[in-house]
Amino acid sequence: MATNATPFPHRISTKDQYFEAWKMAHDKPQEFWGDIAGSYQWMKPWQKVQSGDFNDLDIKWFEGATLNITANCLDRHLEERGDKTAVIWEANDPKEAPITYTYKELHAEVCRFANVLKDRGVKKGDRVVFYMSMVPELLTGVLACARIGAIHSVVFGGFSAQALAGRIQDCEASMVITCDEAYRGNKTIPLKAITDEALESCTTVKDVLVRKRTGGSITMKEGRDHDLLPMIEKASSDCAPEEMQAEDPLFILYTSGSTGKPKGLMHTTAGYMVWAGYTFNNVFQMDEEDIYWCTADIGWITGHSYITYGPLLNGATTLMFEGVPTYPDAGRFWEVVDKFKVTHFYTAPTAIRALQAMDIELVRKHDLSSLKVLGSVGEPINEEAWEWYNKEVGKERCPIVDTWWQTETGGIMITSLAGVTESVPAHATYPMPGVNTDLVDNEGNIIEGNPAEGNLCVHNPWPGMARTIWGNHERYKETYFTTYPGKYFTGDGARRDNEGRYRITGRVDDVINVSGHRIGTAEVEDAINEHPSVVESAVVGFPHDIKGQGIYAYVICQPGVEKTAEELKPELNEIINKVIGPIAKPDVIQPVSGLPKTRSGKIMRRILRKIAAKDLKDLGDTSTLLNPEIVDEIKKGAGL
Ligand code: WT7
Repeated sequence: MATNATPFPHRISTKDQYFEAWKMAHDKPQEFWGDIAGSYQWMKPWQKVQSGDFNDLDIKWFEGATLNITANCLDRHLEERGDKTAVIWEANDPKEAPITYTYKELHAEVCRFANVLKDRGVKKGDRVVFYMSMVPELLTGVLACARIGAIHSVVFGGFSAQALAGRIQDCEASMVITCDEAYRGNKTIPLKAITDEALESCTTVKDVLVRKRTGGSITMKEGRDHDLLPMIEKASSDCAPEEMQAEDPLFILYTSGSTGKPKGLMHTTAGYMVWAGYTFNNVFQMDEEDIYWCTADIGWITGHSYITYGPLLNGATTLMFEGVPTYPDAGRFWEVVDKFKVTHFYTAPTAIRALQAMDIELVRKHDLSSLKVLGSVGEPINEEAWEWYNKEVGKERCPIVDTWWQTETGGIMITSLAGVTESVPAHATYPMPGVNTDLVDNEGNIIEGNPAEGNLCVHNPWPGMARTIWGNHERYKETYFTTYPGKYFTGDGARRDNEGRYRITGRVDDVINVSGHRIGTAEVEDAINEHPSVVESAVVGFPHDIKGQGIYAYVICQPGVEKTAEELKPELNEIINKVIGPIAKPDVIQPVSGLPKTRSGKIMRRILRKIAAKDLKDLGDTSTLLNPEIVDEIKKGAGL
């Protein structure tokens, strides 16, 4: 099968070509994706490009083919661009020297790490959990897993011991890789101590590899814990890529939904590779000499697809940042752009809004003339933030790609293509080739014509989609494919304008998006309900200037317990920190004596959302509630 060393084949360069590609992918998906996949390196060819549908949910791409994704990320580039910089790593502290890896060096480093894993007995199909900060070994470590066919599962370093333990147990990991501590601005986070606590309740983990970063004091458990860096240094840089089946799992990534525990979305090898590679290539439109920086953390899907796999599949230079946007000051992003002459910059609306609120000189004093393309991801971007980003950062000469997608989708689904299709403020705009979107009403009827507004669905399989929820295929079917049978329901609402361009309006289910972090309201409620005085709670999102959404918790305490919001706050925060992590702390707590319920006992969240938003218009008919009088009490308590 073809091995194409040219960096960017199948690049869409004009709007007409975009429409042609979309139509071709729609009419002849097998030919379309077969052609694109042909530019990757395979060990054995596929028998069939795609099989399975949204009824059988036995979806396969490139079945019969074998490959290794790291051969495509690394080995494939060695001849043409072995000395090109693959990764630039910028430390939390600007005074600490950056580290760069050429493709040759990255290849060697990944092979060494892979040999460390092998030496510790990690085999194809084993699960390895990463609980690290943004150190280079997080990136080389996930690639090392992929090299030997182990399944990586990265847990964001802001989650608690209990949340980490839940994920380790769910995927039955045999190894955890962590740091002694993480640097985060002027703080440190005791990752190893948190891991130790998590492991008290985990029985499957045999080894813990510790990447020393701060030198802070930690305890090392004899026989279980090992110092990672010296092991990597000693290991051989020769490690042949494991031959993987197209549908072998590549990684599991946990994310929150409307109900229950976090779900381990499982992505497989070949389809994910083609999707991450194709979308990165076309959305960002990079040239060979460009420098790309995505500010996400590898603990989220954005960091998997668009710090690690997407850029490396395309032979690009990807920047990885350990720190935070506000350290040492709120000009850090722009300082880094200037320092490395970043050309492509991809960040989240919450960061844009936070930096927009700071002194404008923090932006203007840095030279941002290297920038060519700006990206936004993670939540709807409001017009004001879009305009500011365009004017102050892009100086009105950089196309903005507002990329809508999800952990489940593996890669970007709706977006403009930089400089190829138009950027429209606050609009993700057009679906990628291969993505067939529908807006449906609450009964599932497709809303035809433009403009339109409804629930956003996709009605065809695409290569990058998650194939299942780890260990629970029924839940996968139930969560995504039963609301509107035969369709993947995204959980988002959207509008479509007269040109067929999409604007995502936000989640329509019980998921909230706080600073781009996806939080399940049920998970927060479960944590709050662990408080001994709490009888019941209801958590909703409300509009927040910087975070996009804030967390609002209505809490019922036991009869006789008269706690004020101020008294409850530290107590509930402590529990939430323990059960989930600080990212899920409520912004507002309101003690209430009851919650508005229907006669069948269902909480009327719509009313609670309205009150939290201080928007009493269209509160609707409350007289049919089981307890209509409670609405006035809650309004009063909210100061309305
Ligand atoms: C949810 C998915 C995509 C990777 C990071 C988040 C929201 C994401 C956009 C956007 C409006 C967006 C959606 C989606 N979202 N990107 N460009 N415009 N909303 O992945 O944690 O799985 O969250 O983020 O609500 O469903 P995630």
